[in-house]
Amino acid sequence: MVVGGGAREHALAWKIAQSPKVRESYIAPGNAGTATIAHNLNLRPIDVEALGKASQDIGIDLAVVGPEIPLASGIVDYFERLGMPVFGPTKAATQIESSKVFAKKLMQKYAIPCPEGITFFSYSEARKYLESQKLPIVIKADGLAAGKGVTVADSKEEALKALSATMESKIFGSAGDSVVIEECLTGKEVSLLAFTDGKTVIPMVPACDYKRAFDNDQGPNTGGMGSYSPPAFFDAKLTKQVTETIIKPAVKAMAEEGMPYKGVLYAGLMVTTEGPKVLEFNARFGDPETQVILPRLKTDLVDILLAIIDNRLSKVNIEWSNDACVGVVMASAGYPGSYETGLPIKGLDNLDKEILVFHAGTRQGGNSQIYTDGGRVLTVTAIGETMIEARAKVYQNLSHIHFDGCHYRKDIAAREVN
Ligand code: AMP
Ligand code: GLY
Repeated sequence: MVVGGGAREHALAWKIAQSPKVRESYIAPGNAGTATIAHNLNLRPIDVEALGKASQDIGIDLAVVGPEIPLASGIVDYFERLGMPVFGPTKAATQIESSKVFAKKLMQKYAIPCPEGITFFSYSEARKYLESQKLPIVIKADGLAAGKGVTVADSKEEALKALSATMESKIFGSAGDSVVIEECLTGKEVSLLAFTDGKTVIPMVPACDYKRAFDNDQGPNTGGMGSYSPPAFFDAKLTKQVTETIIKPAVKAMAEEGMPYKGVLYAGLMVTTEGPKVLEFNARFGDPETQVILPRLKTDLVDILLAIIDNRLSKVNIEWSNDACVGVVMASAGYPGSYETGLPIKGLDNLDKEILVFHAGTRQGGNSQIYTDGGRVLTVTAIGETMIEARAKVYQNLSHIHFDGCHYRKDIAAREVN
């Protein structure tokens, strides 16, 4: 059973369904795309107890959690108490994502490369400190804020406004009870995710995501408008360096702190002139990175997940294809602001057969027509021997898909081919 209903979860369900070990699969709640490969369960990822009960009733042999919110509310601890095999970190271990203050303290204590930063629990002290700092500067709400809790401020006004909104007006609720204020790094951003059973660490292939809504990184931040793998600048040497100096030390640190980390550890990195540094950790698969990473995974994902649950990841050999993979998100007009839903999606049956369409906000109508049902609607993904080929394929096929007002970025992976 996969928990979640986005394109990341569709990609997980797609890969899991390929395993010869899997007889039947479920997804809660899933979407119109997942309904073709798994049984959609009408349960919300946050309804941890209902998910536990459904898993017991069905007799689920493996649960895989996509989003951060159920992890942060303790779904893994709960399933473990029920004796249900579950893939993901415990509530305590999820703090590496759910608290920026926790993550910063951990990195500082264990000398894991990250931007210089200070934590504040008081608005007035944070404000005083901000006044004395150079620009640009970065302000991060401590808790989960649906990807909106970070401000990279170019002016003092912007910085003070973000601080006040977070700590005084509490626009993110208690997630803004404390903040981390940190130096702004420059360089190239990349995501390196790794599998870990708490001891063994095996990195995945690196990927880059695009957070801004429009081409050339313009417009508001979104949940992700596309991604690709691999970025040419992030070679095997850098993967090894980040694994040895960042991911392994973080996993070891979590064990030393009494909260062993199992699952996927996602390092959001800035590769600076001083080397790679951690912008954030996530306690899960990335979205939309997963949609371009899993198509490159040659090994049975279920074997990896079960090995992690059983603490025997060191026995598993994980193989990746050398292909390039590009994923482009098609979004509703207005996203990431307000948008309409219920619009028919046309052209999905008019694609090259090797194109992967991972659904997010979609719903099946009574007449086998698929309708939009969210802000991010689809991640359209193509694999190629080269990035040029993958990119050309994905954009060729995208042009066949249509719903009213749909928008997508035209520059995903463009920097790799120019
Ligand atoms: P996060 O939610 O922590 O990944 O932050 C969102 C985005 O803000 C990152 O993807 C970066 O583009 C940017 N960011 C976060 N921290 C920093 C930093 N210290 N310096 C520069 N950019 C940052
Ligand atoms: N791609 C960013 C995230 O999954 O948080």
